[in-house]
Amino acid sequence: MTTTFERVLVLIPTYNERESLPGVVGRVRSAVPSVDILVLDDNSPDGTGAIAEALAAEDDHVTVLHRAGKQGLGPAYLAGFSWAMQEGYDAVVEMDADGSHLPEQLSSLLEAAADADLVVGSRWVPGGATHNWPVSRTMLSRGANLYARAALGIPVRDATAGYRVYRTSALRAMDLDGVASQGYCFQVDLTLRAIDRGLRVVEVPIDFVEREIGSSKMDGSIVREALGRVTLWGAQRRGSQVTSRLRTLGRSTGGTWHELTD
Ligand code: GDD
Ligand code: MN
Repeated sequence: MTTTFERVLVLIPTYNERESLPGVVGRVRSAVPSVDILVLDDNSPDGTGAIAEALAAEDDHVTVLHRAGKQGLGPAYLAGFSWAMQEGYDAVVEMDADGSHLPEQLSSLLEAAADADLVVGSRWVPGGATHNWPVSRTMLSRGANLYARAALGIPVRDATAGYRVYRTSALRAMDLDGVASQGYCFQVDLTLRAIDRGLRVVEVPIDFVEREIGSSKMDGSIVREALGRVTLWGAQRRGSQVTSRLRTLGRSTGGTWHELTD
């Protein structure tokens, strides 16, 4: 199929995904043959980097970026975004290497990007679903998303989702140099930046299928980082809402805002 964009780069971050990666790369290439793929490997101890190199050697559409060690999903994606912008891609896709994000649903995300700057493949909108997730993981994701919506006052239902399309023009507008998130809260961070810059964010339903091989890299430190950062961002937003109300109050009473706050 053709896509809305001339050049699309699918970023696939990997840490110990040697068994899953080849299947996912092959499925992406057959689902949307025009796209390129950049594997972002953090020097996986299981040799995923070498497997990725072998895939790149037999396919011009595949490239590997080797990183020194495990630094988290956020820094890996930021490196991928920079590469995509340098190489002149029009749109960038985020996709997990473990098969949870179905390559067969990529074209529906790309189609939605015709009218959006950021498309979020969402588990928690009507039509979206998770498959084979334990109850504990469902509760963690639902809970995290309810908390993010309430704390940040954003309308997105799956702000932690990892299957996405960004226009590179949107990435350029998002002040990526200021991103410090390392773990999966990187996804929430970028969702918030997109909304705050007035970019068009849409959610399309996806089926998230739990991996069959390998294991999740989600751990306590990722949950703690997310909880801490989302709470901080929420407090900062409430702080700036108070400031802007004071500003309005200062104006409507003829006073100056500086008198009220200095
Ligand atoms: N390069 C790199 N470095 N890749 C990483 C790292 C890292 O430090 N940590 C994880 N990854 C890769 C994994 O190899 C996989 O391809 C992808 O990131 C997702 O990791 P999983 O460990 O499989 O995530 P999950 O299934 O528990 O979590 C899913 O749901 C989260 C919460 O909704 C993912 O879709 C996340 O993106 C999402 O935030
Ligand atoms: Mn996974």
